Amino acid sequence: MEFREIAVIGLGYIGLPTAIMFANSGLKVVGYEIRKEVVEKINAGKAHISEPEINTLLNRAIKSGNLRATPNPAEIKGKDAYIICVQTPLKAGGSPDLSYLEDAVDTVAMSMRKGSLVVIESTVPPMTTIRMAERIERIIGMKAGRDFYMVHAPERVMPGRIFKELVYNSRIFGGITPESAELAEELYRAFVRGRVFKTSSTVSEVVKLMENTFRDVNIALANEFAFLAHQYGVNVFEAIELANTHPRVRIHTPGIGVGGHCLPKDPHLLLWPAKEDFGLIKLAREINDSMPLFTKDLLFSALRELNVPPEKAVVAVLGLAYKGNSDDTRNSPALAFVEAIKDDVAEVRTYDPFVGGTAGNIEGALNGADAVVIATDHSVFKEINWGEVGRLMRTRILVDGRHVVERPPRGFLFKGIGRGDL
Ligand SMILES: NC(=O)c1ccc[n+]([C@@H]2O[C@H](COP(=O)([O-])OP(=O)(O)OC[C@H]3O[C@@H](n4cnc5c(N)ncnc54)[C@H](O)[C@@H]3O)[C@@H](O)[C@H]2O)c1
Repeated sequence: MEFREIAVIGLGYIGLPTAIMFANSGLKVVGYEIRKEVVEKINAGKAHISEPEINTLLNRAIKSGNLRATPNPAEIKGKDAYIICVQTPLKAGGSPDLSYLEDAVDTVAMSMRKGSLVVIESTVPPMTTIRMAERIERIIGMKAGRDFYMVHAPERVMPGRIFKELVYNSRIFGGITPESAELAEELYRAFVRGRVFKTSSTVSEVVKLMENTFRDVNIALANEFAFLAHQYGVNVFEAIELANTHPRVRIHTPGIGVGGHCLPKDPHLLLWPAKEDFGLIKLAREINDSMPLFTKDLLFSALRELNVPPEKAVVAVLGLAYKGNSDDTRNSPALAFVEAIKDDVAEVRTYDPFVGGTAGNIEGALNGADAVVIATDHSVFKEINWGEVGRLMRTRILVDGRHVVERPPRGFLFKGIGRGDL
């Protein structure tokens, strides 16, 4: 099939860059998005997410006439392909919230034509693509694999490198039939230069979830090593560096916790349809979720050591984003840390150069503070002159949740996750 006109459903961190790439590769793309303010911004050539090169590439796509966004489902009728990129978060109780996906699938079902290819890029629990194909069959009475094609095409891009990784990452296309996966390869070859692997939709769903679960469990292991290192008086970062000289060992990095849209929820999506599991994945989630509280313990033991009553302490938190040099605060452990201490101290001030915060700048955050806690590894925090900012503080306590400070600055009581030798 030759793909000429496609629709991308959901123009967020994944959908917008994907729509831009297809449009700049010569396809006619309509982006369907339920948030009207996002649609307006995109059509005016302004991206609502921050990502290197995005505004230049978006403007090129809009000016060429190949991309436009709409909140009107009537404008996505009869397309050759539909690419669904909506969010798949957890509900408050921890179960997957597939309502965005189901709404998107319903919209696609009412819009598609015979022979359309439906792609789910969203990360979903195992067997969801098959269930969504059956949903479409029920709504419009067409037969999946014969009258329309369906594929799970998980996204592996890393924010900050999205436009490079969209092109060069290898891709998995999991079809509900082999022909569905073939068609997906044909479509994505418009810009994908990486290797392509074709499989079934359920394998593809499991692959994506295993990738993020692997990272989450390994970070939990590193966090457990950090916890033990405190008890043995060992700097875990030195120990990890040495252990990683082993040719078959690659220990991850411990820290204040795991955030972002994906890593904290994907292990739950993997477990969701299972009747039984061994418990390792859940335990890893619990360990990672407990790290903001471990950071709180480090802070409070430092306050006690210097006889500062916590209820009188002014605490400055540097960093709110879940990862360095990003403005993304989704599930950020920095926010969990602020939440964990806010009722137990006199004042919490926050500063993040990418997000904002309650203090306008670093001096405002540290002026008269008793403790500073580094919660995000933004590069600029590595450049801080601690001698200078320390002079602004009332008590000099520095807690490093992200291994930003290599050498504890003089004149500070320093505590860092895994820095048990200090
Ligand atoms: N962000 C990442 O780095 C990343 C990486 C890999 C995979 N993923 C997965 O990709 C999916 C999307 O993630 P994201 O970060 O782009 O989410 P996002 O929240 O940034 O974007 C989703 C967009 O879809 C829109 N939307 C919701 N329901 C809709 C509907 N029924 N019709 C039209 N639009 C609708 C929302 O308004 C939003 O703009 C998730 O499943 C996520 O797990 C994300």
